[in-house]
Amino acid sequence: MKQQAQHTPPFTEGINRVDGIMKVTGAAKYSAEYELPGMTYAVFAISNITKGTITSIDTKAAERAPGVLAVLTHLNAPKVPGYEAGKDPSKPPTTGGPLKFFVDNSVKYNGQPIAMVVADSFERATYAASLIKAQYNKQQHETDTEKNKFKAAAPKGGRNGGDYKRGTPDDWKAAAVKVEQEYVVPINVHNPMELSVTLAHWTADDKVTVYAKTQGVKSTQNAIAQAFKLPVENVQVTTKFVGGAFGNALRTWPHEIATVQAAKLVKRPVKTVLTRELQFNTVGYRPYTWQKVSMGASADGKLTGIIHEATAQTSSFEEFTEGTVNMTRFMYACPSVGTVYKITPLDVNTPTWMRGPGEATGAFALESAMDELADKLGIDPIELRIRNHADTDPENGKPFSSKNLKEAYEMGADKIGWSKRKLKPGTLTEDGWLIGYGMGTGVFGAGRGRATVKAALLDNGTLLIQTSVTDIGVGTGTAMTQIASEIFTGIPVKKIKFELGDSSLPPSPTQGGSTITSTVGGAVHDACTQLKEKFQQLIGNGGTDKPDYVKVLKEKNLPQLEVTVTSSGSTEMRNFSSYSYSVHFVKVKVHPKTGVVRVDNVVSVADSGHIVSPKTARSQIIGGAIGGIGMALMEEGIMDHRYGRYVNNNYADYHVPISADIPQIDALFVNKPDYRVNPMGAKGMGEIALIGMSAAVANAVYNATGKRIRELPITPDKLLS
Ligand code: MOS
Repeated sequence: MKQQAQHTPPFTEGINRVDGIMKVTGAAKYSAEYELPGMTYAVFAISNITKGTITSIDTKAAERAPGVLAVLTHLNAPKVPGYEAGKDPSKPPTTGGPLKFFVDNSVKYNGQPIAMVVADSFERATYAASLIKAQYNKQQHETDTEKNKFKAAAPKGGRNGGDYKRGTPDDWKAAAVKVEQEYVVPINVHNPMELSVTLAHWTADDKVTVYAKTQGVKSTQNAIAQAFKLPVENVQVTTKFVGGAFGNALRTWPHEIATVQAAKLVKRPVKTVLTRELQFNTVGYRPYTWQKVSMGASADGKLTGIIHEATAQTSSFEEFTEGTVNMTRFMYACPSVGTVYKITPLDVNTPTWMRGPGEATGAFALESAMDELADKLGIDPIELRIRNHADTDPENGKPFSSKNLKEAYEMGADKIGWSKRKLKPGTLTEDGWLIGYGMGTGVFGAGRGRATVKAALLDNGTLLIQTSVTDIGVGTGTAMTQIASEIFTGIPVKKIKFELGDSSLPPSPTQGGSTITSTVGGAVHDACTQLKEKFQQLIGNGGTDKPDYVKVLKEKNLPQLEVTVTSSGSTEMRNFSSYSYSVHFVKVKVHPKTGVVRVDNVVSVADSGHIVSPKTARSQIIGGAIGGIGMALMEEGIMDHRYGRYVNNNYADYHVPISADIPQIDALFVNKPDYRVNPMGAKGMGEIALIGMSAAVANAVYNATGKRIRELPITPDKLLS
């Protein structure tokens, strides 16, 4: 096998993280760290029933408690003028209106905020909130997806609704070799280190400034402007740093609106920082999803039919959908494919996108089933995938804008030492541990949206680039600086300043869906290119490769030379299917007596076009791999369905991998540019870093033990039973 991919342009080491020193020294200011004069603190009192109505609520003791300025409930909360419209302009992945706090006496899920205390300290607000007592009229609740599967129905709207069928999917039943299995992904909760934060400060009757944890300052600005019927420019949203989000800050949640509402009422800045407990049911989660994959192949391993069904939970008031089954339509060259996607409404808060949304869940089922099929056929799982490689998109017949999946399989197999893998499970041991190798494929759409970027050459030699995008920690500032520095080769990296995270800057989309490097990077590329041209026009024909920008601007008496450019993807893209791919390889050790799984080695290979920023790209892949290991082995939001309440809504009981759980992770890149997507040739990688990883771990566990675990997480009890 080939050792290294050929790649153009050359794979450089790339620049260091531009905000790295600020982050490790504590100079980076996160949203909860802003302090304003006269600032107050909000804390929620929450419902301890799951479904019903509040018949009375006693807030007197809370109101009398020291330092309390106000207690908001459905009985006294001022109207939010734009709430009637019921729309959420942050483009949530849902149909139906978002939940609104304090508009009526209904309780829709356990832990729903029923009152908000504003006090002069966080401690006093917390104490006062504990004094609030509510009486309820309790109704029968349902929170168990498994039990309510039969009630599931196709979503009424949204882009993931509708069954899909090509050919005769039932052909799998007549195949020489068949797999028909069910898979379960439980609730996963985003659990970034940074809690959700909103700090609202009305600077005039019709003007509000907000520091928030959000993945999109423009979307938060729009949501607040709409809720309070303000001109958009009267809402200022700032988010300079985000301590991880994974999707839970993609939309505007009701506690954010409530904070802005409270600040208006008390006429002082109000800061709300959710508790870890509230992170579990106030800002979304990956929904519990049951899946069934039925597939058949000829004796020589050619797929003849696949049916992929999924049923997931949603809330009683909003339809959340995601693309759980969608990858099955185009992932393999199979003539007959059917997909069915259903949701079941429960008395829970609405789920939301979580890293690799839909596909991460779907890939666990599809890539586990492919492993099961390879096992039954007695062929190598990579070989099975190569025999069913889709050269063109089987869903729509279009060519792929780029696809280097075969090369990714090779690179990863070489690196992990796939040749050591035994076809027969449970036959390899090291020092008394069972050893297994597994792999799984990930895929996610690679698009480019619209963004506006301002680029300016200043007469102090700085290249200033501005756009409103937030960086949720992935290294957007670094990647954008890298792109600019490759156009303005004469400007040292430390003289390039990329400003972000401010709604008054030119509009960028919300950071999510693996599109920002492509979308904002494309606009940075275009703005810098146009600025360079403008400079060339200024100096006429006398230009050199390394012009003295400061000297020229001073001579021309210009304090700065600037352009503002809006750009988006080309219409040519309509003729292509465009995806990023990943292949994850895992070596596990399983202890035969205790069932403990240790991940011993990980190699993740990304086919995500030209790698713009190698250091931050490596971090993205490593972070996603860790998330995928957590999903495979540990993560599970556990509800006691008798009470409709989480029992592990804290960092001690909701397990995520820590350093000791994680081995050396190799991030490899095919690094072949796809110039159809954007001028850098880059495709996204945030989602594919995780998608397919949980299947790779499950497949490795099977290879080690001969036990197939189809319900995540793979905890020792499941291996021992
Ligand atoms: Mo991601 S789930 O698009 O933050």
